[in-house]
Amino acid sequence: MCGIVAYIGDKNPLPIIIEGLQRLEYRGYDSAGIFLSNKSENSTTKVAAKVEDLKLEIEKKPNFKATVGMGHTRWATHGVPNQENAHPHLSNSGDLFIVHNGIIENYDVLKKELIKREYTFYSETDSEVLINLIEETQKQEQVKLGKAVQIALNQVVGAYGIVVFDRKKPDELVVARLGSPLAIGLGKDSFYVGSDATPFLEYTRDVVYLEDSEIAILKKGKPIKVRNISDDIEVDPYIEKLKWNLENIQKGGYDHFMLKEIFEQPQAISNALRGRLLMSENQIQISSLTEHENKFLNARRILIIACGTSWHAGLVGEYLFESFLRVPVEVEYASEFRYRNPIIFPDDVVIPISQSGETADTLAAIKIAKEKGAFIFGICNVVGSSISRETHGGVYTHAGPEIGVASTKAFTTQITVLSLMALKLGELKGVIGKVKFHDYLTELSQVPDKIECFLKNTNNIREIATHYHKSPNCLYLGRGYNFPVALEGALKLKEISYIHAEGYPAAEMKHGPIALIDENMPVVVIATKKGHYDKIVSNIQEIKSRKGKIIAIVTQGDTTVKQLADHVIEIPESSECFSPLFSTLPLQLFSYHIALMRGCNVDQPRNLAKSVTVE
Ligand code: M6R
Repeated sequence: MCGIVAYIGDKNPLPIIIEGLQRLEYRGYDSAGIFLSNKSENSTTKVAAKVEDLKLEIEKKPNFKATVGMGHTRWATHGVPNQENAHPHLSNSGDLFIVHNGIIENYDVLKKELIKREYTFYSETDSEVLINLIEETQKQEQVKLGKAVQIALNQVVGAYGIVVFDRKKPDELVVARLGSPLAIGLGKDSFYVGSDATPFLEYTRDVVYLEDSEIAILKKGKPIKVRNISDDIEVDPYIEKLKWNLENIQKGGYDHFMLKEIFEQPQAISNALRGRLLMSENQIQISSLTEHENKFLNARRILIIACGTSWHAGLVGEYLFESFLRVPVEVEYASEFRYRNPIIFPDDVVIPISQSGETADTLAAIKIAKEKGAFIFGICNVVGSSISRETHGGVYTHAGPEIGVASTKAFTTQITVLSLMALKLGELKGVIGKVKFHDYLTELSQVPDKIECFLKNTNNIREIATHYHKSPNCLYLGRGYNFPVALEGALKLKEISYIHAEGYPAAEMKHGPIALIDENMPVVVIATKKGHYDKIVSNIQEIKSRKGKIIAIVTQGDTTVKQLADHVIEIPESSECFSPLFSTLPLQLFSYHIALMRGCNVDQPRNLAKSVTVE
């Protein structure tokens, strides 16, 4: 995780780096640091706090005109979040500086070797080991900085995105990546570096996304030079044009990114449908799916691999594909899958799902499935992300940047894309008849407007939250397509309000969770009309008999559940298969309001980070 920003050029690096780090704080925010330099002066500032505090700390120091700088916002892996462990780290000579995202797995062995050579370590980090390894390599091999970094990295096991600076070479930055993303913005006689492109959106549209195992030399006033680290071959970098703009990554009048992103869902879903759902032609067109449709139509099995919220979307995908394609589906946690020596058949289709496209376990699981010969079709939000490059084909969700750590619009757009895929394949396979297909398409095309309408009047959700923000626990129940939504609702509450919450298939309640129910237990039940309505009404009766407090998510106009529940939230009517697109919304808002009432940091909950790029 961790966020990296660096700049070399004629502008003042300080505001670029501070603003950039603030944009990257979603990646980690337990400590922050910055290094600034010109040919004669240097300064390093680090705080065991957020970037805002770093800014205040820098303001206390004397000003000087820097021409190069690097900054870091940390999500601790090796060593507690304190000032010593914060980046940038310095080599023993005091000449080399590094910011690092990732984990050096063999750091202990390397550190022991360096200690034998009389190196001293001032932090507990693996990053300080790496910068001293580079220094030692420079000494031993008598090579330029870029070469020394390359030789040192060939001894490293693990993941890294790094920026290295040598005080003796003030016009140069060396950056390299393996498993941790790095974007390089190309300016006029200048370079910007970021863990993603958001730090330099207002400065340049030209970006090079470094590939795994690549190193780039960024010399002021010279073109970028990229080499492959292991085979030492020069690479022609591919320059992409940035599509996101500054507006996409600002709060736009909302108090929090999470709230903005909840309210962006109508637009995000429209974007996910645009050019794919063609109402006038009664068709779904996803070119990459068409290209690989035989893989799907002949698949023995579909394996969906993901983590967290994306895994929940995968569970909805399981219901969709099994209903419409009639192919068995397994949904796997990437972290379990990768270590299980999984059985993969050559006619399996593997679908990784990831918002960031950088989740380390999902990426590793893809590599394993690929090695075993599976066809990989990804669903990602971030264009050009590592996962999107690792797959044989795939679809982007086009949700736009999701900055709040709690996933919202990423989830509903993932379900939108899964719905499009399942419907298209179901139609191709002949499982869905023409009339039904048309009905589904019509319904899907109306989802953004219906969500827009729902979001116009959500005051009751805030009011309901006032009754439960002090509860220590909360249970979420759903059946069928809404079981994954119950899991997602519980995850949202846990991660941003720190209330213990559990999601369960409603019928499983009797096999354990019912023991928890008393007059103090809020139970959120998704009880939409289509699906297993009668069964869920019985579950509600069972909760009521045990005095549990029932918050029911019901279909507009419902009267039965209204008589039983303590609170109801009405959502638009829909087919069961599309109901997660609506039932998720009140659960997102319920968590949001509860977290606010508890004084929690909604966008940056404790201990979490947006992209989990370490396993
Ligand atoms: O970027 P990804 O979709 O691969 O991330 C996976 C999870 O880390 C993520 O969904 C996480 O669970 C959410 N931030 C929770 O809201």
